[in-house]
Amino acid sequence: MRVLSGIQPTGRFHWGNYFGAIRQYIDLQHEHDGYYFIANLHALTTVRDKAMLQSLTRDAAIDLLALGLDPNKATLFVQSDVPEVSELCWILMTGTPMGLLERCHAFKDKQARGLAADAGLFTYPVLMAADILAYDANWVPVGQDQVQHIEVCRDLAGSFNHQYGKAFVLPEARLLGNAAKVPGLDGEKMSKSYNNTLGIFEDAKAVRKKIMRITTDSRPMEEPADPDKDNLFQLYRLVATTEELAAMDALYRRGGFGDGEVKKALADAAERYFESARQRRAELENNPAHVTEVLLAGAAKARATATTVLNRVKQACGLRTF
Ligand code: ADP
Ligand code: TRP
Repeated sequence: MRVLSGIQPTGRFHWGNYFGAIRQYIDLQHEHDGYYFIANLHALTTVRDKAMLQSLTRDAAIDLLALGLDPNKATLFVQSDVPEVSELCWILMTGTPMGLLERCHAFKDKQARGLAADAGLFTYPVLMAADILAYDANWVPVGQDQVQHIEVCRDLAGSFNHQYGKAFVLPEARLLGNAAKVPGLDGEKMSKSYNNTLGIFEDAKAVRKKIMRITTDSRPMEEPADPDKDNLFQLYRLVATTEELAAMDALYRRGGFGDGEVKKALADAAERYFESARQRRAELENNPAHVTEVLLAGAAKARATATTVLNRVKQACGLRTF
């Protein structure tokens, strides 16, 4: 199966991104033909600072490699390095009903908040469809919020196939697993928009400080607590070993502990959990030529696939006269 997913470089990755998405994409590389890209054309609708977009894109690639994405197994590339996708986007756009895009939530939400949306945001689902269809992807691992976009992609591919004969492979959404809601420092969903994140590669001391600030219910020390309802425990569960988790679970149910103790254990476990990724990241940071080489090789491979698909599509709809 060809598995494809994209991630926008609109901020540095946090635990929510990792446990909710990235870790799962990376796991799939062992059994499938993985195509993973940094969606910088999408990010251009929000990041309008040249240096910022460049560094977020580069950092995203380095982060993914440091977290275990293996370029010998999967294809890692930057979206804009494959211009065939933008051409395919135009072809798809000519067959996209306005009403379909008007119903898409990214646009609808912005409009509902009274904000001015641009054509880039409006047509975003078509670019996303091109991202997927250009590589004959079978499975697209995404969070719940992206399922609507996969439906749009299937609609567009289906109607093109109906009109011109079968040119596109129809992809399926693969809903990401149940780590799906990593809580943030305030107990709400962790998100860069809520300013409640723990960064994967943020300075360890800064992470420790943030952990110490996590809001918890006030509870007398001696009283037991329900681990399943506790914010700190949900975070601890992500980074602790099985033994540590069992011990902490027992402690919660017995009572006689303070939040400070749990926070310290959480910070220690987090430091250990991301330590090897941190080391790999430092090595990659010291070898920029290697990172560039990986991204160029990934783009060359992705372009070869996208060119084959685009030729098939152009042939099908009469854009080729020979
Ligand atoms: P943010 O909410 O910080 O803007 P994005 O929307 O860029 O994050 O998310 C990128 C990916 O990370 C998506 O696949 C999304 O489902 C996943 N993700 C983001 N935050 C969380 C979270 N708190 N829990 C689980 N998954 C998350
Ligand atoms: N829209 C996705 C997001 O915001 C990112 C993305 C762009 C994507 N193109 C894609 C995901 C293609 C999967 C497939 O998270």
